[in-house]
Amino acid sequence: MPSKYRSPVMDRRSFVKIVTASLGSMMAAIVGLPVIQYFISPALGKTGSDDWISLGSLDNFPFDLPTLFNFNITQVNGWERSSMSYGAFVLRKEGQDPIVFSDVCTHLSCRVNWDEENKEFHCPCHNAFFDANGEVVSGPPPRPLDQYEIRLDGDQLFIHLTEG
Ligand code: FES
Repeated sequence: MPSKYRSPVMDRRSFVKIVTASLGSMMAAIVGLPVIQYFISPALGKTGSDDWISLGSLDNFPFDLPTLFNFNITQVNGWERSSMSYGAFVLRKEGQDPIVFSDVCTHLSCRVNWDEENKEFHCPCHNAFFDANGEVVSGPPPRPLDQYEIRLDGDQLFIHLTEG
């Protein structure tokens, strides 16, 4: 016998199905979205670095002698964690702010060494030479050694590291 309250458009069973499916979807979204966000957020995070690195006291760096300072930076890129090593040559001259050179050759990124006997930087990869001011003396490098931006805080020396 048909009920006198029966809807001509939707019966009670269909209504309950729709409400149950809607509530189930909402609950899945409430529980699932934070889980999805947790898994993808590292991939959307910051990459590279943009930091001031402390090289310590200026007293650690003698005058007129490019002195190598090595440091490591740990970068987090998504789920990947990597440690990069860097080198910086600090050159102090009496009465001037220090100059800090990258130890990366501007040709194909080999590491340069300071040759104290000849007073020049040497890149062993393709036998290039840079003078004490980082200018190219000979070899294939297309430009002088890169210089770090520096900041002095009292006698503390900082360099600005920017990496993409
Ligand atoms: S990488 Fe230094 S000269 Fe080629």
